[in-house]
Amino acid sequence: MTAQYWDDRYATIGGSAVSWFQESPDISLRLIGDVPRDAPIVDVGGGASGLVGALRRAGHSNLTVVDLSAEAINQGLERTVDPASINTLVSDVRDWQPSGQYQVWHDRAAYHFLTDPADQQNYWSKVRASVPVGGTVVIATFAEDGPEMCSGLPITKYSPGDLTAAMGAGFTVVHSEREVHVTPTGGEQQFIWLVAQRTT
Ligand SMILES: C[S@@+](CC[C@H](N)C(=O)[O-])C[C@H]1O[C@@H](n2cnc3c(N)ncnc32)[C@H](O)[C@@H]1O
Repeated sequence: MTAQYWDDRYATIGGSAVSWFQESPDISLRLIGDVPRDAPIVDVGGGASGLVGALRRAGHSNLTVVDLSAEAINQGLERTVDPASINTLVSDVRDWQPSGQYQVWHDRAAYHFLTDPADQQNYWSKVRASVPVGGTVVIATFAEDGPEMCSGLPITKYSPGDLTAAMGAGFTVVHSEREVHVTPTGGEQQFIWLVAQRTT
């Protein structure tokens, strides 16, 4: 999986036609909930999602998107009010060294591309290093009965229990739910969502 691969997907298909496109990030917004408007929020693997744009419109002022595809981030910013206010980092999450703390760590359908256990552990180490006690993780992956691949790439599917175990110590899952995402071509993809709080 390379940045070039993802750039090509976004450039040739278009951010509004990719299988994971959603008109409005309703579940994310609901699960992130009512956090202070100046709380730092990061969308990891945020791509061209409208999430940071929706949060900006709701008055949030400390927003960051991390994604390995510059094309995706640029497409997302084109649809965002006040794009200059969004911090963007073009980086593979495996290489990224977060320098700050995030009150909310959001990831919809990026973590599940990490299929190597070492990369998965590295991801959760990063979450632990950058989400303080009291902070929140909102994460969605393909469910156990979800697709085998995403965007032509292998993924890891999770049950709520699997994903809770992957997080490791320090998190308390406070909510989980399932979603059947309908793709722009009418396909159905089963997702799970977890909300976890950093407790220790
Ligand atoms: C299925 S898309 C989901 C995008 C976005 N979260 C959304 O809900 O629309 C997965 C995203 O993760 C990004 N991605 C995949 N692997 C990544 C990695 N190792 N590091 C950073 N971003 C990655 C891709 O470029 C893509 O934008």
